[in-house]
Amino acid sequence: MNTAIYAHRGASKIAPENTMPAFKLAKKIGADGIETDVQLTKDHIPVLIHDESLNRTTNGTGFIYQYTYEELKNLDTGSWFATKYKGTQIVTLEEFLTWIKDTKLKLNLELKNNIVDYSSIEYIVQEQLQHFNMDTRTVISSFNPNSIRRYNDLFPDADTALLLSKRVKDPLARVREVGANGLHTKYSVLTRRLVKDCQNNDLPLRIYTVNRPSRLMRCYKLNCNGIFTDVPHSAIEYKELYKH
Ligand code: G3P
Ligand code: MG
Repeated sequence: MNTAIYAHRGASKIAPENTMPAFKLAKKIGADGIETDVQLTKDHIPVLIHDESLNRTTNGTGFIYQYTYEELKNLDTGSWFATKYKGTQIVTLEEFLTWIKDTKLKLNLELKNNIVDYSSIEYIVQEQLQHFNMDTRTVISSFNPNSIRRYNDLFPDADTALLLSKRVKDPLARVREVGANGLHTKYSVLTRRLVKDCQNNDLPLRIYTVNRPSRLMRCYKLNCNGIFTDVPHSAIEYKELYKH
């Protein structure tokens, strides 16, 4: 059993999601990798943030695509979580890659382009990954099948995964249709049959968002290739327990 533990938006239970403190804590805790979400500003700068709108996790309002990076960079994305994180800034992909490249962490970069279809996000992201030599330990994922297809057409060597939030009739056919190398699904989609089908087709299967002990244990037992968790510390603890 070697299920990789990806910290979902960093160690997002104990630090504000998708911020440098959350990423650094994930590394300190001993996660195998980090999952983070990328979107584009008005001037096409990739930034790491989950929602299309600024409202929930910053002191700004409106959509990310409406602002230049210069306009966003001084927003506070920590106070909503806890006062001790006041002044935490939105992280650019470049800033994040500069840090992660010197670690051993794997990366899952989720293109958040299923609601706003950011033009050329695939080019912009891949260029930065290559610049930092991170393309070889990064899995690109998206709920947007067209974007995954585009990514594979443009960069055939890229490692990509299709994201599914619901059970569908033939998930592997969806993966094949877009030319992805892997499948990322919500926990509710997970079945023993899906695991077998993925294994028989050499398709890595990774599951989000797995926080509860019983669910963590089930993913380990089924030998899923990876999990995304807000609580990497307990995911590691339960993985140790599972081994013994
Ligand atoms: O990439 C796995 C997971 O992050 C997908 O859902 O909404 O948490 O980005 P979400
Ligand atoms: Mg995500």
